[in-house]
Amino acid sequence: MDREQHDELDEWQRDPHPRYARARQAEGLTRVAELDAWLVARDADVREVLRRPEDFSSAGALRPDVLPSPAALAVLGRGFGGRPVVVSSDGRRHQELRAPIVRGLSPARVAAVLPYAAERAAALVDGFARDGGVELMSAYAERLPGEVIGRLVGLDPADVPAVVRGGHRAEQLLFRPLPEDEQIAAAEDVVAMQHLLDALVRDRRARPGQDLASDMLSHLAPGQEDLTLDERHEQVAHLQNLLLAGHLTTTALIGTTVLHLLRHRDQWRLLCAEPERIPAAVEEAARYDSPLQGFRRVTTRPVTLAGTELPAGEAVFVAFGGANRDGVRHPCPDAFDVTRAPVRHLAFGLGVHGCPGAQLAREQLRITLTELTRRLPGLRLADDRPVTMRPTLIHRSPQHLHLVG
Ligand code: HEM
Repeated sequence: MDREQHDELDEWQRDPHPRYARARQAEGLTRVAELDAWLVARDADVREVLRRPEDFSSAGALRPDVLPSPAALAVLGRGFGGRPVVVSSDGRRHQELRAPIVRGLSPARVAAVLPYAAERAAALVDGFARDGGVELMSAYAERLPGEVIGRLVGLDPADVPAVVRGGHRAEQLLFRPLPEDEQIAAAEDVVAMQHLLDALVRDRRARPGQDLASDMLSHLAPGQEDLTLDERHEQVAHLQNLLLAGHLTTTALIGTTVLHLLRHRDQWRLLCAEPERIPAAVEEAARYDSPLQGFRRVTTRPVTLAGTELPAGEAVFVAFGGANRDGVRHPCPDAFDVTRAPVRHLAFGLGVHGCPGAQLAREQLRITLTELTRRLPGLRLADDRPVTMRPTLIHRSPQHLHLVG
């Protein structure tokens, strides 16, 4: 992808909603060159794709937008991973990979981590509550989710910052055009994260614990003998995917939720007065500006979708974010309204790949809004720091969120 194409993609990513609106009104599907895929933006069409995994494969779900330079690839060659993971697998293999994740994120496991999440949320807010102002992304949103998923996975808390950093850098490297030296630096951070994860995997082989790393290992590579190199690559790939899926998305939703509530101050005030409305506000924020705007699928055979005939091997971009603004399902879809009647949205997907971490994400949002509305009801957006959205369709969020009060 050249620089000009990337600028167009940038524009697309920073505000996809007008494009979705046009695609929903168009007949059939719209081919979008910047995405190199057919855009599926109507609620009914998105549901149809998600309900037909045998016709729409997930194999290309994590296809990078940018190929790293040879020097960056050489650095990545010193790391681990690079194997198909749950979100990019189909059929039996997908079920096999998903089972330990679903178990590790069961209602009981999520409930058990909530006291820790609440304690960490309070401590992070303590860190800026008296300062009169904060950049919420770096001081809070980029920290809490990593600490929480790190705890569930079994990471040493001291390793969490490097793992969170590695996740951000992996996203930059594979989805943003970076100058060569930055690509190399990003690749080094990714490799550092992978070595930490490999050390965790080997440690859990020797001393299994009550955590997701141990569950994944005993399910996918049972036994006690030393892991082969291939098994180590596999385990690191699964953990890396789970960690990224868990923290980058939740970070993004914390940012957009606070942003939209403060842009609609009447609704922020309503939550401060009636905190029992917080869960509904989280659903509305997830619907209105979904972090994961969409993922690709690839047709496994010729199919007709919304009247458009697609041969086998065609990529479609399944826009959860577009479906969530479809007026056929959500009345007044472009209004942000925390009091709207609940209607199931697609921010967490649907069907066989539906998000197994949705409950954990929702609880972290609930804890966050409870903490902020109770302790800092006067919060508002800093007038002199306009908000820009990050150019990404997979972790849509404010780049920075400067708040005062
Ligand atoms: C606001 C936060 C989150 C959002 C918006 C979100 C959204 C989604 C969506 C839309 C999918 C479906 C992808 C597809 O159909 O291809 C998905 C899958 C997934 N999510 Fe989440 N997610 C969030 C948080 C989490 C958390 C906290 C975890 C783990 C702790 C997690 C782990 C996963 C995994 C492992 C998958 C792949 C499941 C599969 O392929 O079977 N997510 N997520």
